[in-house]
Amino acid sequence: MTELRLTNVSLSYAHRQGFGALTTTRVLQRVSLALAPGEFVAVIGRSGSGKTSLLNLAAGFVAPSEGRVERGGRPISGPGADRAVVFQDDALYPWLSARDNVAFPLRLAGVGRDERRARAAELLRQVGLAAETDRAIWELSGGQRQRVGIARALAAKPDFLLLDEPLGALDAMTRERMQELLLAVWQSSGTGVLLITHSVEEALFLGTRVVVLAPDPGRIVADRRFDFSRRYLAGEPARALKAAPEFIAAREELIAAIHADEAMTA
Ligand SMILES: Nc1ncnc2c1ncn2[C@@H]1O[C@H](COP(=O)(O)OP(=O)(O)O)[C@@H](O)[C@H]1O
Ligand SMILES: [Mg+2]
Repeated sequence: MTELRLTNVSLSYAHRQGFGALTTTRVLQRVSLALAPGEFVAVIGRSGSGKTSLLNLAAGFVAPSEGRVERGGRPISGPGADRAVVFQDDALYPWLSARDNVAFPLRLAGVGRDERRARAAELLRQVGLAAETDRAIWELSGGQRQRVGIARALAAKPDFLLLDEPLGALDAMTRERMQELLLAVWQSSGTGVLLITHSVEEALFLGTRVVVLAPDPGRIVADRRFDFSRRYLAGEPARALKAAPEFIAAREELIAAIHADEAMTA
């Protein structure tokens, strides 16, 4: 497997102000980021710092204005089955069962009925929804729906999961359980993950790397490696890890990095 690489990527959007001239806004400026297979990169930053734009570039939904987005030396020219995307409020088909939602991309890929039903059931088991396999989406809670979305994203066996604040709408307890589930899924599937989150604690707990973006224009101001997720998977309790002095120190450091340029302009 090859890495997903952004090299010196800039992104500008053109827009017209009223009847006035066309102006461009630079959303990302010279961003370089390589996502290795099996790595878990968490991206944090203030609202408007370009996090979603970065994910859209990696997904192939938008093309860079400058620079390159590529896999294995080949430019990414659009969405692909190697990269699965999950958004915060992802559209599932509410009248279909969890199983049929997860099986849907397999159907598009031409997988036969029995095999896609079996694979969908296995994916739902992996996300802890074995008992809900044949329930309709409208019968499930928000956390359960989010898990169906993740199972569906995994159905195509992507090399990379691109997640844009997937846990943002969940209550605190459900969110913590989902974080742990994401790590279990990450470990068992071996996919690379790019996770965008508003929560510094979530980024630290989940990421093998945490990247901080600052806005105007969006750029990387910190890129650090952490091992809290691997320690959790090796058996340390989540609560103890999140209360550890090194976790708290790292959290404060990342919060400072998020707000560093604000202090100068205040
Ligand atoms: N399609 C678009 N057209 C014009 N501007 C956009 C578009 N998408 C995003 N932007 C602008 O780009 C900046 C970064 O947005 P975004 O990537 O969504 O940041 P974040 O996810 O960090 O909040 C914002 O100022 C936003 O208004
Ligand atoms: Mg966003």
